[in-house]
Amino acid sequence: MGKVILTGDRPTGRLHLGHYVGSLRQRVELQNSGEFDKIFIMIADAQALTDNADNPEKIRRNIIEVALDYLSCGLDPAKATIFIQSQIPELCELAFYYMNLVTVARLERNPTVKAEIQLRNFGKSIPVGFYTYPISQASDITAFRATTVPVGEDQEPMIEQTREIVHKFNSVYGETLVEPEILLPKNAACLRLPGTDGKAKMSKSLGNCIYLSDTAEDVRKKVMSMYTDPDHIRIEDPGKIEGNCVFTYLDAFSCCDHFAEFLPDYSSLEELKAHYRRGGLGDVKVKKFLNSVLQEVLEPIRARRKEYERDIEGVYEMLRRGCDVARAEAAETLAMVKRAMKIDYFDDTEMIRRQSEMYRNAQ
Ligand code: TRP
Repeated sequence: MGKVILTGDRPTGRLHLGHYVGSLRQRVELQNSGEFDKIFIMIADAQALTDNADNPEKIRRNIIEVALDYLSCGLDPAKATIFIQSQIPELCELAFYYMNLVTVARLERNPTVKAEIQLRNFGKSIPVGFYTYPISQASDITAFRATTVPVGEDQEPMIEQTREIVHKFNSVYGETLVEPEILLPKNAACLRLPGTDGKAKMSKSLGNCIYLSDTAEDVRKKVMSMYTDPDHIRIEDPGKIEGNCVFTYLDAFSCCDHFAEFLPDYSSLEELKAHYRRGGLGDVKVKKFLNSVLQEVLEPIRARRKEYERDIEGVYEMLRRGCDVARAEAAETLAMVKRAMKIDYFDDTEMIRRQSEMYRNAQ
């Protein structure tokens, strides 16, 4: 059995650095590693609608933004199938059958869903579709017989839920579905990139994001006003690295070559951190370095985006072709599922023949 990747993002906004280090960068590496037989990247619009039912225009507008972000990061439609979730009706059908294999109590325990319910102030008015999105996510993953799901840490409960559904399905109906594995970023700083304000997570609703499509000037301004160590007042003061997001970003983005290129007085991040801790190193110098590093990462992404922005029709055409490929794949899995569940009546000519013989004999 081949190795298959399925992953995706909700199109609720443009993608930012948190998405980049949490998943996008790794996806491109995996894509180019040649180790995978198939790669599916999904724009999860149906899932985005589970808590944006009253704002379809927002989701619609962001399809192209996410597609442009994907392409500009280096996802290549020749190697990866990029598609839109809602265009694959087979996914809904699978989810409907998986719902029979999951209890309400089990959904209630999902920590990511719990946190999201709090964040969105749903109280008792939780949309059923939202509540059950982990089941729909299990359909996304299993429909493509994915072995590997590269995602951020917050998606761990979804993959766990998927694995449980796979076990349950296979034990009730016979070996049919493939059990997926999560693939997290290796670097701890990438697991959850803080916002520029130092808050736990980069998130559009908190307004603390650096977007992949921000201009060079926007990025510079955001970096120069980033949260550091509030007790590091004069340059001579000793500074703290922990909770200082400028250093967390350097952990996530910088490498030795960046020092040689932009800050040759230091040979490594460890050396820079040690100086900051001792005192005598100002925030501005560290921020300028971070800005150079980020600009180097973002410049080629911005340039590629500009290219693709000149051919929006071509991008939609690419998505349309991706949907066709994805749909054929999901249809194959759905057929296997229906056979296993014994709801493939018209394909079972043997059963029809046997029954007709039985009734004929009884006449
Ligand atoms: N839940 C993911 C997110 O919020 C998006 C998503 C939907 C997804 N279906 C998926 C991710 C399947 C991986 C696999 O970003």
